[in-house]
Amino acid sequence: MTGESDPVRADGGSESEVDRIAELAKRRGFFTQTADVYGGVGGFYTYGPHGTALKDSVEESWRDLFITRQGNMEVDAPTILPEAVFEASGHLEIFDDMILECSECGATHRADHLVEDTTDIEEAESLPPEEVAELVAGHDIGCPTCGAALAGEPVGEFNLMFETNIGPGTAAPGYLRPETAQGIFVEFPQLAEYARNQLPFGVGQVGRAYRNEISPRKALVRVREFSQAELEQFYDPETDEPPLSRVADVGLPLYSVEQQRENGDLRELTVREAVDNGVIESEWIAYYLGLSLSWYESIGVDMDRFRYRQHLPGELSHYAADCWDAETEIGGDWVEVTGFADRGSYDLDRHAAHSGESFSVFKQYDDPVTVERPTVDPEMSELGPAFGGAAEAIADALAERARRDPDAFDEEVVTVEANGDSYEVPVEHTGFAIEEVTESGEHVTPHVVEPSFGVGRLVYTVLVHAYREDEVDSESRRYLAVPPAVAPTTVGVFPLMDRDELPDYAREVAGRLREAGLSVTYDETGAIGRRYRRQDEIGTPFCVTIDYDTLEADTVTVRERDSTAQVRVPVGDLADTLRRLRDGDTEFDQL
Ligand code: GLY
Repeated sequence: MTGESDPVRADGGSESEVDRIAELAKRRGFFTQTADVYGGVGGFYTYGPHGTALKDSVEESWRDLFITRQGNMEVDAPTILPEAVFEASGHLEIFDDMILECSECGATHRADHLVEDTTDIEEAESLPPEEVAELVAGHDIGCPTCGAALAGEPVGEFNLMFETNIGPGTAAPGYLRPETAQGIFVEFPQLAEYARNQLPFGVGQVGRAYRNEISPRKALVRVREFSQAELEQFYDPETDEPPLSRVADVGLPLYSVEQQRENGDLRELTVREAVDNGVIESEWIAYYLGLSLSWYESIGVDMDRFRYRQHLPGELSHYAADCWDAETEIGGDWVEVTGFADRGSYDLDRHAAHSGESFSVFKQYDDPVTVERPTVDPEMSELGPAFGGAAEAIADALAERARRDPDAFDEEVVTVEANGDSYEVPVEHTGFAIEEVTESGEHVTPHVVEPSFGVGRLVYTVLVHAYREDEVDSESRRYLAVPPAVAPTTVGVFPLMDRDELPDYAREVAGRLREAGLSVTYDETGAIGRRYRRQDEIGTPFCVTIDYDTLEADTVTVRERDSTAQVRVPVGDLADTLRRLRDGDTEFDQL
């Protein structure tokens, strides 16, 4: 297998943070390389029980904010789609990364990453391939696999789509979707119906996407199969505005193109300031940057290691007119965890053109309006003899020209293009006229702003940012300070000792808490201190201990993970207390 080893890191970034999480992730069941027993396969990870629970919590929390609380719709499309979808979307033609092959050992590498890893250049992806090849040569970059000099190796383009066949044979090619978004765009005509053709509306999707990465690396950061949570916000660019006042005062840590070029610091602007100063052009993007900020914090992203960075022009995806990434700092590198892209009408226009279907909505006016419309009524008895088989196409071209450029009919002849040729038509035979028509509405092709979240990268960020070490009772301890609302397990329940009625009572408490909808781990093995440490390492925010006082007075000890402080709570209040602690309705020190 090629392309699986990380290029040499020259930036001195803290590898140990990354290594520590990789070790903890495997040992404690967060994630592990898939099919390790067969040597593993680059870019594929299996979430273990705690990783799955954490990922589910992040997805549920995303759904709550971006679907339910915004009044948006959610869909669930297939991960394999027919070729026509990706011909229209442009992915088959353009969705490429820069590849460089070592002629010594045959290993393939992402050329822009080689440059980023060994120079101060942060976004080599935005540079043309020839320039990247020159940088590889100019910085004497060696092959990360065998060490051979890479100077002179060409930088090519590698399409990231995974191809498959639908049904037997090769007649029906299909592709694993590289983004969930296309499954939404192709269904737009139907989705618009569900939205009663009322713009603006949003459609989200949480699901897997696939990219055949040249060099998968950095654990969950660059993988070949991953989960996305994407929202496609459809709106009329002429009339629809986001509810900006809801987030106007949110302070955004912005790293615009201008600041990147000046090598400047982050600039903190409120959403309102960023829009008014023109730093963020799209109000819809500004709205979602503002809305998302506190969400990142709520799932455990360290906001001192977070920024919004605007894409450099050469870095923009083929469909995007502008894009801001949410980035988190991991091991000294900035990692994109969300792209907020202005896709304009690119996708809907392309699917309309390729499918021949309508990808617009009919917007009804409040009152019908009378407008002047240029029309043609070509005299086919003149056009036929004059232009033969091209006459029909010329008639269509005349209608189109009249709509687009009525002044062209002011002359004696009008020129139109049809079937690849140019024709001069006497205006007197076109039936050109300006008619007054009453219209009840118009067809609008919506624009799209797309917040696209990488779920695995967020999970990974949360693990890295939550990791803590301290000392408790003169012993070193490692714990994950993940917010209670997303922690894989909310509560650990232990009998103080494995004797008398303590285990039976503890099992009964655990059962009652589970019935109340809490995520509970029961543990009676080993010393109580060891049991606390196990839960600390997976980020369980609360532990409940059943001791001899419980048997006497029906109270239990509740211990909080970060402070290790303990309070006694009546068993009858326990489920409600823990639920309120998990949901942030009560603070532990208020108990
Ligand atoms: N839909 C945006 C992306 O997948 O990057």
